[in-house]
Amino acid sequence: MRVLVTGGSGRLGRSVVTVLASRGHDVTSVDTAEHPWPEGITSAVCDLLDRDARAELFDRTAPEAVVHLAGIAVPFARPDAETLRVNTVLAWEVLSAAVAAGARSAVAASSPTVYGYNTPSWRPHYLPLDEDHPVAPWHAYGLSKAVVEETVRTLARTADTCVLSAVRPGYVVSPEEWRGATTQQGHTIRERLDDPALAAGSLFNYVDAHDAAELFALIVEHPEQVPSGTVYNAVAPDPLSEGPVDAHLARLHPTTAEHAPALADGRAVFSSERARNDLGWLPKRTWRDHLDQPERI
Ligand SMILES: NC(=O)c1ccc[n+]([C@@H]2O[C@H](COP(=O)([O-])OP(=O)(O)OC[C@H]3O[C@@H](n4cnc5c(N)ncnc54)[C@H](O)[C@@H]3O)[C@@H](O)[C@H]2O)c1
Repeated sequence: MRVLVTGGSGRLGRSVVTVLASRGHDVTSVDTAEHPWPEGITSAVCDLLDRDARAELFDRTAPEAVVHLAGIAVPFARPDAETLRVNTVLAWEVLSAAVAAGARSAVAASSPTVYGYNTPSWRPHYLPLDEDHPVAPWHAYGLSKAVVEETVRTLARTADTCVLSAVRPGYVVSPEEWRGATTQQGHTIRERLDDPALAAGSLFNYVDAHDAAELFALIVEHPEQVPSGTVYNAVAPDPLSEGPVDAHLARLHPTTAEHAPALADGRAVFSSERARNDLGWLPKRTWRDHLDQPERI
């Protein structure tokens, strides 16, 4: 299948492109940044906010599926209005172009930050958090992702032949980050494990980049199993913590204390059951197996 991956040079995109190509797809990676791809993967350097460049790209590649990852990927990395504008305009333009090009599926990256944790007043209705739980973004990045999800639902109402969906990957851990490279927050995964206050910022969620990429691949390969407009959480089944997170959560996010005991068995704060039920997605790579510090495991 011809698959166009936007943001293919990024932390998650590199794994998505690699996994799709390894499954036999004809992949084109598009990004403003170059990446040294091996033979067999087509790449294009293009600013997807540029209307003419975008039109030329879709005409030339005629994608049967689009995985949209491009955007500003970290809260507060850029001025708020820029984060909001870039992420929402990119999603509208890329997903609309996918529908117009006749793609059978188009899936966009959202984020667990849509839930709105990390404010003193945030109080979950229940735990673990599934996709039916209300969202309440409080910063421009989270709001931009809530708009991405609404864009998916909006386009799904009229797109007859294209299945639209969104995925909320947890804190993505790339192969080099398992080996000790610093993550997007400027510290290592080992440091996140050693200081629960660091991992608490994302409610201890994480997902291996390859595992997340496999969910994008399943969505692309089985659009008939995806109800159009669906949002999927994509997190590892366990928390990024040496043990269960119920006590950490109650201490570091006191408003969760009522529901934190539900996590005493070691489960993650987020549920990815929907992706498992619809597509059989089972994240296989946990920090206990993959972190390159065997003496601590
Ligand atoms: N990394 C995470 O932990 C995480 C978690 C949840 C959601 N996400 C989402 O997943 C997606 C990918 O995240 P990532 O960590 O790989 O981010 P990243 O910053 O590594 O990659 C994003 C890529 O998009 C490209 N890009 C940005 N604007 C573009 C434009 N106008 N035209 C073409 N390319 C453009 C960038 O050059 C970059 O390579 C993002 O949408 C992000 O919000 C990431």
